Amino acid sequence: MENQKDRGSFSKIGFILAAAGSSIGLGNLWKFPYLTGQNGGGVFVVIYLIIIATIGFTCMLGEMAIGKYTKLNPIGAYKKIASKWKFVGVLGILVPFMIVTYYNIIGGWVLKYIVESVMGHLPGIAGDSENFFTSYVSSGGAPIFFTLLFVIINAIIIQAGVSSGIERASKVLMPTLFALLIVIAIRSVTLPGAGAGLEFYLKPDFSKLTLGTVTAALGQCFFSLSLGMGAMITYGSYLPDSSNIEKDSIVVPLLDTCAALLAGFAILPAVFAFGFEPSAGPGLIFITLPAVFDSMPLGSLWAVIFFILVLFAAITSSVSLIENPTSWLIDSYDMDRKKATWLVCFIAFLIAIPEALSMGIWSGITFPPMAMNFFDEVSYIAESILMPAAGFFMCIVIGHVWGMDNFEKAVTNNGEFPFKSKGFVSVMIKYIAPFAILCIWLNSSGILGLFMK
Ligand code: PFF
Repeated sequence: MENQKDRGSFSKIGFILAAAGSSIGLGNLWKFPYLTGQNGGGVFVVIYLIIIATIGFTCMLGEMAIGKYTKLNPIGAYKKIASKWKFVGVLGILVPFMIVTYYNIIGGWVLKYIVESVMGHLPGIAGDSENFFTSYVSSGGAPIFFTLLFVIINAIIIQAGVSSGIERASKVLMPTLFALLIVIAIRSVTLPGAGAGLEFYLKPDFSKLTLGTVTAALGQCFFSLSLGMGAMITYGSYLPDSSNIEKDSIVVPLLDTCAALLAGFAILPAVFAFGFEPSAGPGLIFITLPAVFDSMPLGSLWAVIFFILVLFAAITSSVSLIENPTSWLIDSYDMDRKKATWLVCFIAFLIAIPEALSMGIWSGITFPPMAMNFFDEVSYIAESILMPAAGFFMCIVIGHVWGMDNFEKAVTNNGEFPFKSKGFVSVMIKYIAPFAILCIWLNSSGILGLFMK
């Protein structure tokens, strides 16, 4: 039984801040720089920007429209607009839940770095920071403890409800994070030897372009904008009818992309200046930034403030990940918010335990179908397979089942606002975006490979 129980609502600016809060997170600060490093630098950035401006914008508008129109959680929303396609909404509950299991682990890493920098123990010297990171993440017990701490912080915030918890925090912390990123980027760019990093970051080398680059950029677009898992449907469901979501779906990706690009400026020049490997992977920010802070006056103070802000960015994202399954339990099983929140957090934590161990003692154990360790397997299936699939089906549902007329009514609030990008969006949503997503998805799921052999 879907109902409107306990849903609360957003103010217009509160919505933008919360939606930006959901999208700006570890995806921008942690993931974007290391993916850029792994996927050839500038060429990845160019492909990423193209995908954001086309598929990202379109899917963002699509999700917000579905949420605002139905005022329901993703499953209820799809049931209402296209009952046979309810399973797309199921992805909107399942995928964020999968993501939150390992998002909590990275959130735990950030907590650990806060503690270490407060105590002045964060190693600044290049080689040490690398060893420190690798031995910490593979140590088992401590990462699990900090994951639990991160989960508890999240649960407490969500329990407080939609507007009070999320909105209040976003208003102050997002601008502060931007300011600090700019300061760090300036330091990084002016380090001796940073030029090679800037060139790597800004000068696209198209000989490095592969299908893998495009797959990674698409996955990152969905991950970073919180798309393909119903987060924006859920947030949209709290929107008043009078809000202009066409504008919102430009502003939110714009803010998100600025944060990602700034993180790139903060990290990649320093990677080259200190002689780290740009393709080092998930540890890149944790290895590089301590060395940058070490080169700044009052370095440990900057480190403390920075990692605290990263923590808040991570929390505003993880609460939105947890919000989906939670809001579904509230709507469908009449559960109260407190109980639903703790249940989701508890199960997510249980699953995080083997994921954390798969970076240490269980790293050799692999699972079908991708033959990766547990952490990599869950993240690959969620980000490269299920999220794009949800995006694909959303485009099909909006473009061909629910229909452009209904979509337009939701976007314009029955004609109250103009729909300036209507021509572009309708071609994108009906044909181009689903086709492009399908091609990339066939590649990332390994299906294309079967035919190419
Ligand atoms: N967009 C977030 C980030 O970039 O860190 C991650 C995320 C949050 C994904 C919420 C999905 C979501 F529903």
